Amino acid sequence: MRSFIALLSLSAVLFGADGYAVYKKHCMQCHVELISKQETMKIFKTLKAPPMVEVSNRLKENVLITDDDDDVKRRVIIAFIKDYIDNPSLDYSMCHAGAIERFGIMPSQKGELDADEKEAVATWVFDRYEDVTFD
Ligand code: HEC
Repeated sequence: MRSFIALLSLSAVLFGADGYAVYKKHCMQCHVELISKQETMKIFKTLKAPPMVEVSNRLKENVLITDDDDDVKRRVIIAFIKDYIDNPSLDYSMCHAGAIERFGIMPSQKGELDADEKEAVATWVFDRYEDVTFD
């Protein structure tokens, strides 16, 4: 068991912060991880922010890159999320107007996450939902 834990902490050192752990610590209290649109409508009144699946999908829909390389789009969205964690603003938000009216603008998390944690969580927000489809 001890060596297993040692291995886990070694991998955290080698591969940087764990994006899902960062999400659970800093984002989950507002952004639900995964929920269908129908369920979202049902519990909308209890939500504090758009579900993370919506955030991720919305960014992917909105950010259009003409370069053929998909990784360019991924990098641009990850950079946007990293910046948004520190500097949320009405000028940059791509959320639906209705969502902003309901939730307000996200409070800045400046100083809460280090650079590695921001990179890890932003990458997680992009990659987590790559194969998720609801009908
Ligand atoms: C205190 C509640 C709260 C916390 C904590 C929070 N958010 Fe948000 N977030 C919001 C709200 C409300 C919005 C919708 C309004 C907006 O776009 O600013 C939002 C929107 C966003 C957006 C969408 C921006 C866009 O333009 O579409 C991203 C990306 C985001 N949050 C990432 C994160 C990440 C990553 C974390 C954790 C590190 C986090 N949020 C933590 C409340 C929160």
